[in-house]
Amino acid sequence: MTFEEAKNKLAPAGQEHLLTYYEELTEEGKAGLLNQIDALDLSLLDLIQDGAKEVAKGKLEPLGAVTLEKIAQKKDDYEKKGLEAVKACKVGAVLLAGGQGTRLGLDKPKGMLNVGVNKELYLFEQLINNLLQVVKKADAWVPLFVMTSEKNNEDTTTFFREHDYFGYNKDYVFFFVQEMAAASSYEGKIYLEEKGRIATSPNGNGGWFSSLAKAGLLDKINEFGVEWLNVFAVDNVLQKIADPVFVGATIDAGCVCGAKVVAKADPNEKVGVLCLEDGKPSIVEYYEMTDEIINSRDEKGTLLYNYGVILNYLFDVKTLTRLMNENMPTHVVEKKIPYINEKAELVKPTEPNGYKFETLVLDMIHMMDNCLSFEVEREREFAPIKNRTGVDSLDSARELMKKNGIEF
Ligand code: UTP
Repeated sequence: MTFEEAKNKLAPAGQEHLLTYYEELTEEGKAGLLNQIDALDLSLLDLIQDGAKEVAKGKLEPLGAVTLEKIAQKKDDYEKKGLEAVKACKVGAVLLAGGQGTRLGLDKPKGMLNVGVNKELYLFEQLINNLLQVVKKADAWVPLFVMTSEKNNEDTTTFFREHDYFGYNKDYVFFFVQEMAAASSYEGKIYLEEKGRIATSPNGNGGWFSSLAKAGLLDKINEFGVEWLNVFAVDNVLQKIADPVFVGATIDAGCVCGAKVVAKADPNEKVGVLCLEDGKPSIVEYYEMTDEIINSRDEKGTLLYNYGVILNYLFDVKTLTRLMNENMPTHVVEKKIPYINEKAELVKPTEPNGYKFETLVLDMIHMMDNCLSFEVEREREFAPIKNRTGVDSLDSARELMKKNGIEF
């Protein structure tokens, strides 16, 4: 793309300011900026005309879950089935580690957080420890695919190498890099993070399967014979990965996907709830539900919309492959975006200052014909580290680690 072409692309969208420092750049810098402008998807900016607004929801209905009680009755059966699948290398794990963890405000990948007190224990390490429990039980390695972003790939891969993959078999670990999207101010002006660099951020965790395919890893998946992918977040220390009971239950139910859920702590808890939307499984955020829906109960007094997701899903690979090119909704999310101001000084805001554009893995659930809602015990499986202090922080996670007998 030439300078003129870039100008012609940017001017109608009111984004010419991205070329402000063009003349000051080296030849290489100029080419880099023009490439970035060429790749820019300006249509995303149309989404913010009315501020951050969510996609409208269809008709909602409750979706029950296989409850803890029911799971306990069939645990041995499920586990046997799941372990057979793991042994046969039919189950792969996908660690979503491309996020920036802006709420935690770490200047390195979240997985590098040391959650230990008496000894070093990194988030990545604890996740590997959790996965190793299944590996031992099944006596078989589970292929692990790790999604990173342009911003943290180098740090992440180096960290794994330096720690010798925390005891995992490195022949079963594969990294792939997700895509990025531009970030803008509240007024819809795309930020520059350097004179010759547009501010971009990872484009959400919804594109994980297409990024994995673009990286050529579908070949690996087929080579191994992986039929199920267990997708999970980096920041839950208690995350059970490739959990045979969950895998077995999903296979037993004949579903194309499964989601681990926890009973809500109270009706207004801020979690995405797994329910039915226009007859298909769907995850609906608390702010997308009316008070009436949030508080509705069955004859026994149990909340009808009771099960919150914990970002641990199991997907059938064939279905994922078939749906890979379907459009997913884009969410406009308020975030803290580092940028250069009019004096070309770098500003690292402490409060959100604009929008990022993201697709989300939770929207994949609505693309599926069915989904097994699988209840797990919150205190045993859900200790996310999102914030610096308080709810879902390192402190709260440590409390739960203690309760689960994890040494740290
Ligand atoms: P979060 O929604 O908590 O986002 O991610 P985040 O970026 O980590 O943190 P905040 O919101 O900025 O504080 C849930 C999971 O999805 C991954 C994260 O790494 C985490 O495991 N994720 C998120 C990606 O892999 N890519 C993304 O673009 C966003």
